[in-house]
Amino acid sequence: MAFFARRDGQLHVESVPLGALAARFGTPCYVYSRAALESAFGAFAAALAGRDHLVCYALKANSNLAVLDVLARLGAGFDIVSGGELARVIAAVGDARKVVFSGVGKSAAEIRQALAAGILCFNVESAAELARIESIAAELGTRAAVSFRVNPDVDPKTHPYISTGLRENKFGVAFGDARALVRRAAASRSLRVVGIGFHIGSQLTETAPFAAALERVLVLVDALGRDGIALDHLDLGGGLGIRYRDETPPAVADYVGALLGQVGGRALRILLEPGRSLIGNAGVLLTRVEYLKPGAERSFAIVDAAMNDLMRPALYDAWHDIVPVADRPGPPRRYDVVGPVCESGDFLGRARDLALEEGDLLAIMSAGAYGMSMSSNYNTRPRAAEVMVDGAAAHLVRAREEVAGLFALERKFP
Ligand code: LLP
Repeated sequence: MAFFARRDGQLHVESVPLGALAARFGTPCYVYSRAALESAFGAFAAALAGRDHLVCYALKANSNLAVLDVLARLGAGFDIVSGGELARVIAAVGDARKVVFSGVGKSAAEIRQALAAGILCFNVESAAELARIESIAAELGTRAAVSFRVNPDVDPKTHPYISTGLRENKFGVAFGDARALVRRAAASRSLRVVGIGFHIGSQLTETAPFAAALERVLVLVDALGRDGIALDHLDLGGGLGIRYRDETPPAVADYVGALLGQVGGRALRILLEPGRSLIGNAGVLLTRVEYLKPGAERSFAIVDAAMNDLMRPALYDAWHDIVPVADRPGPPRRYDVVGPVCESGDFLGRARDLALEEGDLLAIMSAGAYGMSMSSNYNTRPRAAEVMVDGAAAHLVRAREEVAGLFALERKFP
């Protein structure tokens, strides 16, 4: 089903025309489709049906409380990387029992906060982190549940900035060190070993690198079994890519099916940490053309969204489709679609053929993941509003920021 579709000459989100949302909430504005999010989650749930599992949504992709709420109602768990994300889960869901805590730099305060909240487990990324978790748990007289993120040293074949499973990356416990570290943890009275896993990168469009990582990690699982260490779960991480342009990532059923086939009859609960594949294609960034600036070399469409709203093009040279909200007859011109920020890197798309007039609305597609969550206030720009559409209804799920709030924490010299 198409959650974003053209009807009567206008792009709709579910039953709501985007023009109506711009009129009601202003621009720039992120717009999400609840049905698209639910459908993406449903694909994971269906692929894992019949197997003990937990889909832990990676909050970093989009941590709006409404997104978390929708997913929690479907039974999702959460993958967090900070105390701030933990606080969001608790605010949206009420408890932290389905939370896994990833990340290479957990502070002592965050570890305490997570233990107090009763998270499912820490995904441990180094020996030093394990020692810190152990000593804090001992001090609190509790047992910390730990899972190990192993760095399997496989090439995910994605953008280098979002590749995480190579030996040269900072992530995970080196494959060769993992068995000894897990054994050490299993012998501790302050730790409880519950799992092992991997996460090798993001926006992967093939199954093979996941399969290669899993093959290595299963060797470890079996070795640990021989050591008498039975794990509760296996965490297959996140990283499944989506289609932005012409990518052909595997369907969720095929990707999950292939990995489950490899796991075979091993009695392990399966965890996954998808982010982008759940929310990426469930959101668009709605923006309005401020000015057209035709030129001999290049023509610019200057819009009211900018790199501070969606930094993926500037940061990764990422490509997002840009479509007019309303049909406009007339010959297209080739535009660079740029924002008002004072940087040449402030573009949302380059060389796009569009028929435009000042005031037109554009939708920047596939912007649900790593859009709002990576936004900033650069140039003292208030962050965009966020709206979630649910059938014919539209809910404001984050109000547009106000300028006064942007410097409310600042002080002049006394
Ligand atoms: N688990 C861990 C430990 C992660 O580090 C990540 C993403 C995920 C799960 C979720 O991965 P996903 O399913 O979304 O691929 N800002 C970049 C993406 C950075 C991904 C970082 N880690 C972008 O805009 O493409």
